[in-house]
Amino acid sequence: MPDASIVVDRDFVLSELDRRIFGAFVEHMGRCVYGGIYEPGHPTADEQGLRGDVMALTRELGPTIIRYPGGNFLSGYDWEDGVGPREKRPVRRDLAWSSTETNQFGTNEFIAWCRKAGVEPMLGVNLGSRGPDAARRFLEYCNHAGGSTLSDLRRAHGYTEPHGVRFWCLGNEMDGPWQICHRTAEEYGRAALETAKVMRWTDPTIQLAACGSSHRNMASYGAWEYAVLDHCFDEVDFISLHTYFRNDADDLAEYFGVIELMDAFIKEVVAICDAVAAKRRSPKRIMLSFDEWNVWYRTHRIEHMRKPGWPVAPRLIEEVYNVEDALIVGGALITLINNADRVRAACLAQLVNVIGPIMTEPGGAAWRQTIFHPFALAARHGRGRVMQARITSPAYTAKAFPEIPYLAAAVVDDPADGTTAVFALNRHPTEPLDLSVALRGLGAQRHLLSAQELHHANLRAVNTKDLPHTVAPRDNPDVSVAGERISVRLKPLSWNVIVTRAGSMAG
Ligand code: AHR
Repeated sequence: MPDASIVVDRDFVLSELDRRIFGAFVEHMGRCVYGGIYEPGHPTADEQGLRGDVMALTRELGPTIIRYPGGNFLSGYDWEDGVGPREKRPVRRDLAWSSTETNQFGTNEFIAWCRKAGVEPMLGVNLGSRGPDAARRFLEYCNHAGGSTLSDLRRAHGYTEPHGVRFWCLGNEMDGPWQICHRTAEEYGRAALETAKVMRWTDPTIQLAACGSSHRNMASYGAWEYAVLDHCFDEVDFISLHTYFRNDADDLAEYFGVIELMDAFIKEVVAICDAVAAKRRSPKRIMLSFDEWNVWYRTHRIEHMRKPGWPVAPRLIEEVYNVEDALIVGGALITLINNADRVRAACLAQLVNVIGPIMTEPGGAAWRQTIFHPFALAARHGRGRVMQARITSPAYTAKAFPEIPYLAAAVVDDPADGTTAVFALNRHPTEPLDLSVALRGLGAQRHLLSAQELHHANLRAVNTKDLPHTVAPRDNPDVSVAGERISVRLKPLSWNVIVTRAGSMAG
């Protein structure tokens, strides 16, 4: 049975963990909004039409920030269509997803939903079909207290208090030819700069994210980031990264390589950001917003993305996730945590129905997909500061990546309450890993608070409306704690979180 070890020391802290890395994404796409978070008439809906069962599952999932309203939808969206009296809102054709948009749900409803769910909103401005002027007007409508026509319009719409939205995305995937009004890097870099300027003059407290590449395999990858930042470096705080993991070869050993490639993607984008900084001799550091990531490949064909006849809220890309996908999502969360020094926001895409951790039936049930579980555990226990983890593990080679350690792990310590969480993925197909964790100087006489594992003998197992609890975390009994050391046996192909606290049980 292979051994693996993790050593951390209280003097070696990678970074504070920005809890905005546990974000998610709600797009006007398919049944994410309509029939997802919003369904008037549903037995659990409140007076605003917000589904109570989805709200409860969202709270349990624990996202900290939610990106809205797109996605590709954003690049054709007129924000004015989604505010004001519902009966006066226009019905539009959404070119991104060939759907009919009723606009019965818009910015104010989204903010109300966020407040109720206890999450921070992350809004996007349309830099496809529109530009800086619409963006700064939208920001003024949202964030200005009152006394101007646009802020008073919000107040007249029933929202007396400003929304105070802090995080804003400057468009979406503007490098992609599929985008409504796709731009070159030069065109987008200029647009991002001018939009950022007027938005900052409107509200200097905001944070702004420029669009990076839609994925690492884009032909323009690297050159895009450099050219865009060369224009807007001084005015933006973040650059975005997007990635959707695929298991095309139906080979789990290869599939695990996507976790390493995500890490490489992050480190490459950091290098490009810092190259732009170096050229300017600037100490400023651009942070990374990994604001779309998930598994998505089974429903990636065009017939899953567009349905004929301009339907309202059709079933689009409703990927059903299995145990393998949950292990990948758990591994990706470990990668995000281990890059906490530069990744300061990230969004699992999306929240409900559309490649979502939550699924619903119209008028019926809501349930947790397999990928719900690693996200919920990481969001619950990922608090405090990320420790530099010295990891020793046997490894294997794959085509996707030359050396893949069987163990992927991250350690997060919360000095506020003395708890330390160890997140660990065993990628070995057949062997358990006997893992020893030394938490040096983080407090002796530790005791175990919980050890949970996500593991299932059937890697193709899924959760369904009728069998919603087939895949769920269970307690791992193979764990002991002595002094500063944790010993735990990780089942083959399992994702784990072990939480201990320093001090006696009474403490
Ligand atoms: O999340 C689905 C789509 O994937 C988003 O709209 C787009 O930004 C990305 O290509």
